[in-house]
Amino acid sequence: MAKAKASELDWNKLGFGYRDLPYSWQEEYYDGEWLGGGLTSESNLVLNEAAQVLHYGQEVFEGLKAYRTKDGKVQLFRPEENAKRLNDSADRLMMPHYPVDKFLAAVKAVVKANEDFVPPYGTGGTLYLRPYMIGTQPLVGVTPSEHFVFRVYATPVGAYVKGLTPMPYVLSKYDRAAPAGTGRAKTSGNYAASLLPEMEAKKAGYADALYLDPKEHKYVDEFSGANFFGVTKDGQFVTPKSDSILPSITKRSLLQVAEDLGLNPVEKRLTLADLDDLAEAGAMGTAAVISPVGSLTDWDGKKHVFYSETEVGPVTTKLYNALFAVQVGDAEDKHGWVVPV
Ligand code: PLP
Ligand code: COI
Repeated sequence: MAKAKASELDWNKLGFGYRDLPYSWQEEYYDGEWLGGGLTSESNLVLNEAAQVLHYGQEVFEGLKAYRTKDGKVQLFRPEENAKRLNDSADRLMMPHYPVDKFLAAVKAVVKANEDFVPPYGTGGTLYLRPYMIGTQPLVGVTPSEHFVFRVYATPVGAYVKGLTPMPYVLSKYDRAAPAGTGRAKTSGNYAASLLPEMEAKKAGYADALYLDPKEHKYVDEFSGANFFGVTKDGQFVTPKSDSILPSITKRSLLQVAEDLGLNPVEKRLTLADLDDLAEAGAMGTAAVISPVGSLTDWDGKKHVFYSETEVGPVTTKLYNALFAVQVGDAEDKHGWVVPV
């Protein structure tokens, strides 16, 4: 694959796809220690055919973005939280920690080395960063690897779900994670499990499937790549509490933003019946930012419309504007979330 050229990109029409940028970061782990990392222009990996990750899925990853501000600077949003979550995921997958300070240095180095690819302010584009770690040891038995590679790649992206346009969603009849499984970890297996439900949902005309808790199928969990939120008719910002969903950094940020905006933020187990109390609903995450949920269709084909199927609700708009303004440096960073590169 040929390396991307910044001069050939249309910043307003980036989409959410991979482009091969000049630099990634790589560090290997061997005999119990990280061997020293650095930038590399090699974006292909050579793995042994028996590498752990290829057969038994020992992988963890993160997703975060670098934002261009109005005055041309570049900043990250809460990258330390991604570093910590990578290590929480690594614990579940029996992988070593990548030290938080090294994670931050690696991410900053990749952004700086690819700075031409941070989209201009005002285009809605950002530089998406994908740190990840894989088990590379050749193994036939199902055991954890003792050799690992940590890498970070970057790619410029537009919105994952286009703009603040409400989309139709459908309740999934599949589970993405097992009870007491790996739902809280950001690991490839969860996404492999979500491919069929997501593709079936898309084929039927929906943006994605919404999963229920895998134990009782009574409570709302999350989407394939984003957490769920709702705004109640009496002005509460509610989002599911569950052990089988990814602890979203966007969610934690929006709980705070909601409080700052005078909404009442609540994390609780959310039943399907609770959806009737919602005036607005949305998906939230790094890639998704905030994507309004126009409607949710259940297993019986019954469609529940939230604010509107075509227009975004006023509270969702307020939350989006408040969060995005901090991320691109237009609003005061009251909570110390922004890290300059
Ligand atoms: N849930 C899943 C399954 C995800 O893949 C993501 C994306 O990272 C999220 C939620 C949102 O998490 P965050 O806000 O930290 O990006
Ligand atoms: C992210 O939001 O960073 C994710 O990893 C979600 C993925 C489905 C693109």
